[in-house]
Amino acid sequence: MTDSIDGLFSRTEDFPNSVAQARRSALVGLDDLIERLVTDAIALLDPTVMEAWSIAVHGDIVPSVKALSDRTPLFVFAGDVGVGKTEVAEVIGQVIATRSRTDVTLYPLSLTARGRGAVGEMTTLLTRAFERIGADFAKARRDDGAASSLGILLIDEADALAQSRELTQMHHEDRAGVNALLRGIDGMRTDRLPVLTVLCTNRIDALDPAVQRRAALIEIFNRPTYGQRAALLGRLLAGTRLSATDIDALAQGTGEAVGRPYAYTYSDLRQRLVPEIVLDAYRRGAAVDSVIANEVLSRTPPTRPFGVGTR
Ligand SMILES: Nc1ncnc2c1ncn2[C@@H]1O[C@H](COP(=O)(O)OP(=O)(O)OP(=O)(O)O)[C@@H](O)[C@H]1O
Ligand SMILES: [Mg+2]
Repeated sequence: MTDSIDGLFSRTEDFPNSVAQARRSALVGLDDLIERLVTDAIALLDPTVMEAWSIAVHGDIVPSVKALSDRTPLFVFAGDVGVGKTEVAEVIGQVIATRSRTDVTLYPLSLTARGRGAVGEMTTLLTRAFERIGADFAKARRDDGAASSLGILLIDEADALAQSRELTQMHHEDRAGVNALLRGIDGMRTDRLPVLTVLCTNRIDALDPAVQRRAALIEIFNRPTYGQRAALLGRLLAGTRLSATDIDALAQGTGEAVGRPYAYTYSDLRQRLVPEIVLDAYRRGAAVDSVIANEVLSRTPPTRPFGVGTR
């Protein structure tokens, strides 16, 4: 693949595949959200689906269906750290592919690399990404407008890029980055490429208004609720000596607390707390039980919300 050679995308991923299916299955409490995202994505990417619906319910293709094709297939995922933005963006292709019976390719572009090189590199990166996708999907539309394959361009960690152009201290180069993004997504729409762009950011407030205006959907992700924490912990700690009551207590204990107005994130639970509990029990040569779980909990605090205590 040219992907890693030209260093543009970290990797591309073709759906459906079994690894993505497993990742999708591991997500807790997001079924309704994923359902909604996938339905909307397919409606935006494949006009024949909407046309068939319109004919079925209205007897004809109503003009408002045409208006939908002017919509930019852009989703913005915003919210705190570790709440599933990247994970959902990376697995919805799996669900779209299964549902629409069309091959989907994910093109992940992470902009954390901003500090990596010279100013203006981000602009070049974006421009090249859109060029590459333009080339890959130039022939993807069939005559009836349906697509033979679909793409998802994931612009992750887009905070740096998506700073509002209205911010006074914004560098000229940053503005060029935003402009490259706008040019790219507008170009894909004009060329009717069957490509969904998903932009993830921690800072919806700093997202350029022109980008927000184009988004077909802005989804704010949140830290898991009590029920979501209980479901995830129950799944991750199944088969241990933790009873349903112990899991419940752990779900309570990972919620908001006095002096700490925020709960644990999904990643706090999945990548820190549970692995720590298991390791701790292993080191002791003991079974995972509530004593160990509570001890680990007390020394494993949740991640602070984005922007809190860092500015
Ligand atoms: N609903 C969920 N169910 C189970 N695990 C989840 C869920 N959401 C997120 N996770 C897990 O939490 C971790 C962090 O998720 P993810 O990387 O998507 O966060 P993010 O919102 O992109 O955070 P950041 O803003 O820091 O990039 C991943 O390991 C992911 O699998
Ligand atoms: Mg992320």
